[in-house]
Parts: sequence; structure tokens; C-alpha cells
Amino acid sequence: MSIAIYPGTFDPLTRGHLYVIRRASVIFDKVVVGLLNNSAKNPLFSVEERMNMIKEVTSDIPNVEIIPFNGLLMQFAIEQKANVILRGIRTGGEFEFELMNAHANKKIAPEVDTLFFPCDINYSCVSSSMVRDVAAYGGEIRDFVPDSIAKKLYRKLKEKGLNKV
Ligand code: COA
Repeated sequence: MSIAIYPGTFDPLTRGHLYVIRRASVIFDKVVVGLLNNSAKNPLFSVEERMNMIKEVTSDIPNVEIIPFNGLLMQFAIEQKANVILRGIRTGGEFEFELMNAHANKKIAPEVDTLFFPCDINYSCVSSSMVRDVAAYGGEIRDFVPDSIAKKLYRKLKEKGLNKV
């Protein structure tokens, strides 16, 4: 059975992330979205909120599972019996950085490979922090995130008093 892990903070998940998940679900028997409980990033949404948002927008893809994790990615990959780590690539600069990480991860777990996935050209400028920023200024974000996530993001920013308009 081929198992791929697509790791990230997903604060929130974007249409760029969703594209990678959908394409990967056609290639692998199972795609595990590894939701990092990332203390370094101080996420806007809790792990549970991020997990529910991803579940909702991937509910039509049967071979996708969302599993939170802490600590080392490769430890998580071994626990999940994954063959592959998937990393979306938006730019050449990102590739250089990701290649270094892939080499480090290969040293930690030689039996797990990293595959780079070119992102959808329509979303090469999208990141979670860019979407949060545009939303905080009241900008239109539905081209960048699924509608259900856009609604939750506007609401969360309002609740937390993080609106900039
Ligand atoms: N479309 C749109 N946006 C994308 C994207 C895509 N295809 N791919 C990445 N992004 C965005 C993300 O939303 C994120 O945006 P942000 O910085 O504004 O929040 C940004 O690009 C970086 O994403 P990513 O590279 O996936 O970082 P991450 O912090 O979400 O996750 C991990 C990185 C989980 C892979 C990494 O931190 C990790 O492995 N941590 C565990 C500890 C560990 O093992 N360390 C050793 C590594 S060698």
C-alpha cells in the first residue's frame, strides 16, 4: 500500500494545498494530511479547527485522512508507515530550501522518500499568511481558499479583534 504524508501547518488550508491533496489522492492509495501542531508559528486556528476545516473540504476524497502531529516529521512518517513525504513547490527558491530538508529527512529515515509536487500555476503566489493578511484588510480571498474556509477566517479575525479595517 502506498502511503503519502502531506505535512504542514495549514493555518488555514488554501486552494493550493487542496490541489496537491487532490492530485496526490489519485496517485497514492492513502494520503495522510499531517497537521503540525506548530508552536513556532503561533497559529490563528486551533488544531481541532484546522482539522475540521480540512475534513470538510476533503470529504469527497475517500482516501484522505487528517492526522495531527507534534515533533519530528520523519518520526510521524515512520509511525504512519508512510513511503513518501509530499512537498508542494511554488518557486525555484522554495525548491532549494526543500531539497535541503529532503536530504536531512532522508538521513533521519532512509526508507522514506520526499517527492516534490509542482503547485497549480494559479496558486503560485498563495500562502496561508498572505490569505490571513488579505482577509484582515477585508479583501476578497475566495479565489485562494474554499468558501467555507473564507467564512471561518473572516469570523475568526473579527472574534480575535485582528481586523485591520
Ligand atoms: N499552496 C499554497 N500555499 C502553500 C503551498 C501550496 N501548495 N505549499 C506551502 N504553502 C504555504 C503554506 O501555507 C505556508 O504559508 P505560511 O508560511 O504563510 O504559513 C508556507 O507556504 C510554508 O508552508 P510549509 O513549507 O508547508 O511550512 P509549514 O510550516 O506549514 O510546514 C513542515 C513545514 C511541517 C514540513 C516542517 O516544519 C516540519 O517538518 N516540521 C516538523 C519538525 C521537523 O521534522 N523538522 C526537521 C525538518 S528537516
